[in-house]
Amino acid sequence: MNKTWSRRRFVTVSSAVSGGIMLTRCSTMSALHVVILEGRIRIDFEEHPDLKLEGKGLLLKSSQDPIFLVNVGRGSYRAVSAVCTHLNCSIRLSGKVLQCPCHGSTFDFDGNAVRGPAQRPLRTFKTEVSDKGVEVVL
Ligand code: FES
Repeated sequence: MNKTWSRRRFVTVSSAVSGGIMLTRCSTMSALHVVILEGRIRIDFEEHPDLKLEGKGLLLKSSQDPIFLVNVGRGSYRAVSAVCTHLNCSIRLSGKVLQCPCHGSTFDFDGNAVRGPAQRPLRTFKTEVSDKGVEVVL
């Protein structure tokens, strides 16, 4: 077997590997463009049945800052700003925490900074759950 890889083969394999990582990281948190009505974002379970499952969530994008909406189990949901309190970078889901790619701050789903440099918690929003879905109150 040829031990040297062509640049094309390296790029192809690298892309496949990084694409796989991206899919894994994004598999539980899809982005959704939403409209704010009367100060609320409404997500229907009928349109997003996965949201009923613990650990699943959505990244809600609107005219305001993006918000993570996460099912934390037992019918409870957390809505947390996706904007880092350190220098306003966009936060990403990383396993069971929210992590800032800029300088490494890490937050839990309650918005608490569990690792700096960010010192302040993420902004959080009240959620209201019904049989039909979840509402985030802005
Ligand atoms: S902007 Fe998030 S850690 Fe610096």
